[in-house]
Amino acid sequence: MIDIHSHILCEIDDGSRNMEESIAILEKMEKIGVKAVVATPHYITCSKYRENNESKFQKLLTLKEEIKKREISISLYLGNEVFIDNDILTLILEGKVATLNGSRYILIEFPIDQPTSDLYNLLFSFCAKGYIPIIAHPERYRYLQTNTEEIQKFLDMGCLFQGNIENVVEKYGKSAKKLFFYLLKNNKYHFLATDVHHKDDILFKNFKKVRKRIIKIISLEKYKELTFFNPLKVLKDEEIE
Ligand SMILES: [Fe+2]
Repeated sequence: MIDIHSHILCEIDDGSRNMEESIAILEKMEKIGVKAVVATPHYITCSKYRENNESKFQKLLTLKEEIKKREISISLYLGNEVFIDNDILTLILEGKVATLNGSRYILIEFPIDQPTSDLYNLLFSFCAKGYIPIIAHPERYRYLQTNTEEIQKFLDMGCLFQGNIENVVEKYGKSAKKLFFYLLKNNKYHFLATDVHHKDDILFKNFKKVRKRIIKIISLEKYKELTFFNPLKVLKDEEIE
């Protein structure tokens, strides 16, 4: 698996709390078969979660050194989970916000309860500049849980969807789980990722079962596409059909 959504960098957002926890997370990820991870700390302009690329990159280098010492063979890359607003495009150009491994792909989140009035225009402006927004965990958005017609708007615009695999064990509630399975069965996801935050995340206790359940629905071939081949295209900045 190549995981394009994770909060493994410590003391930067609501993810890993210290270096030991980052290492513990990566040890557990290695055990479940993860080969590469993109660290995607939150970037939220109007909050304390807005560390610039240079400082994030230093943290990534330190973590790389630590896991090398401990012989954990996972490759690490840098990105952000970006809370979309008017300033983000400029912040990318200024080197404060990271796309996924410097590619055209950018992991996007927005308010859970209802969309801001300019959401579609902002996403469209990303696409117009050649970026490809990957919507993080669409299944968690409450207005999409009750209005599946709205979902197609994002896909028609050229956005891609990344599902959180922990929905199988209902980490985010019944409605998120229901929409997760709807999107999975209807072939709407382009990626599945962990969105891991902590070493004791429920994901690690149930991964084998979760993987098996997903494969039963979408086939092993499709599972590999969503968890390996499409993420690999992101790392290489290649097009995804
Ligand atoms: Fe996240």
